[in-house]
Amino acid sequence: MRILAIETSCDETSVAILSFSNDRVRILFHEISSQIPIHARYGGVVPEVAARTHVAEVLSLFERARAFDGRSLGSARDAGSSSRRFDAIAVTQGPGLATALRVGIEAARTIAFATGVPIVGVNHLEGHLASAWLIQENRRRWKFPLLALLVSGGHTELVLMRDFCRYRVLGRTRDDAAGEAFDKSAKLMGLGYPGGPIISQLAVDGNPRAFPFPRPMLKDPSLDFSFSGLKTDVRRTWEKVMSSPRKRGSSINEIPGLDSRLRGNDKRQLLIPHFCASLQEAIVETLVAKTIRAAIKVKPAAVTIVGGVSANRHLHEVMQKELRRAIPSVKLLAPATGLHTDNAAMIAAAGYWRLRRGEKSDWRRLDAKPEWDL
Ligand code: KG4
Ligand code: ZN
Repeated sequence: MRILAIETSCDETSVAILSFSNDRVRILFHEISSQIPIHARYGGVVPEVAARTHVAEVLSLFERARAFDGRSLGSARDAGSSSRRFDAIAVTQGPGLATALRVGIEAARTIAFATGVPIVGVNHLEGHLASAWLIQENRRRWKFPLLALLVSGGHTELVLMRDFCRYRVLGRTRDDAAGEAFDKSAKLMGLGYPGGPIISQLAVDGNPRAFPFPRPMLKDPSLDFSFSGLKTDVRRTWEKVMSSPRKRGSSINEIPGLDSRLRGNDKRQLLIPHFCASLQEAIVETLVAKTIRAAIKVKPAAVTIVGGVSANRHLHEVMQKELRRAIPSVKLLAPATGLHTDNAAMIAAAGYWRLRRGEKSDWRRLDAKPEWDL
């Protein structure tokens, strides 16, 4: 089965064609056009700008997919013929920005109408879960029940996967997502967008114990998260240290070179790596602690971390270490580099999970579901 997949839920436009046969998955075409440079100017995603950019980008990606192998995208003439280069269309239906989602959905519906191939609306979160399954080695180790930590710009959830397409959400954030905590903190420090990759890079040279940020909800017995308190603490601490002429708080003494004469940009430059390392440590420790707690409770056969924030190397390393310590028999499955953040290949994979169960959508009725849960 060859699937054409389209992803336009947020700030990446992506088109892919994957082939699936038994246990073999091949990525025949896959491109991601990132809008990050456009939204970076505003310090975050502007929905209207995202939607307009998707319109231009999705067409240009279709053009490239067509160039890649003649009739990849098929045409009305190909409908029903064996020369057609894909057998189904998978498109992100939600959750995400309504107007952005609709660009991909309208494109997919038009192709379904023109070619007559079946279409399936995919949950973006299920797409993230499927991103790790795209690796052959991970498919071999893909055993149920599978525990997933799904961490992205909009979601932070612990999900128990009992089978393909069967989920139980064990815990989720009660307010901000982990990715949002990275993004908003980066904005506060004037570091740019998106915050996660920038902060994790700057954190390499910092002391993770310089600022004692809270580890939210760790004392709470639930498997829920909350990152808005951390965000407030980060803001308060940043404003305090930047405005105070003196060293404040014993922890800040651990920053070499920080003395009371240091001001303005020099002070900012000196503090940033330590601030980033401390913030990253607080987020990572919280995510790992709750995942381990969930793993001890549900005894999964495998664990996966997916979503944009799972690109964070430190998160991966600490998770690996703690998992080995707590339940050594369980393998940690992660997506391939480049497939942590939004992409159409993962949408094709989740679409395949649905289609092989005989599910499909009616292209006449397919519409965005901006608030769709797993
Ligand atoms: O999955 P994704 O591409 O989009 C959503 O579905 O939200 O995730 C984007 C999020 C952003 O918040 C970004 O800052 C974060 O993933 N992110 C990272 C890293 N790379 C991306 N966070 C921490 N460390 C990273 N290396
Ligand atoms: Zn995503």
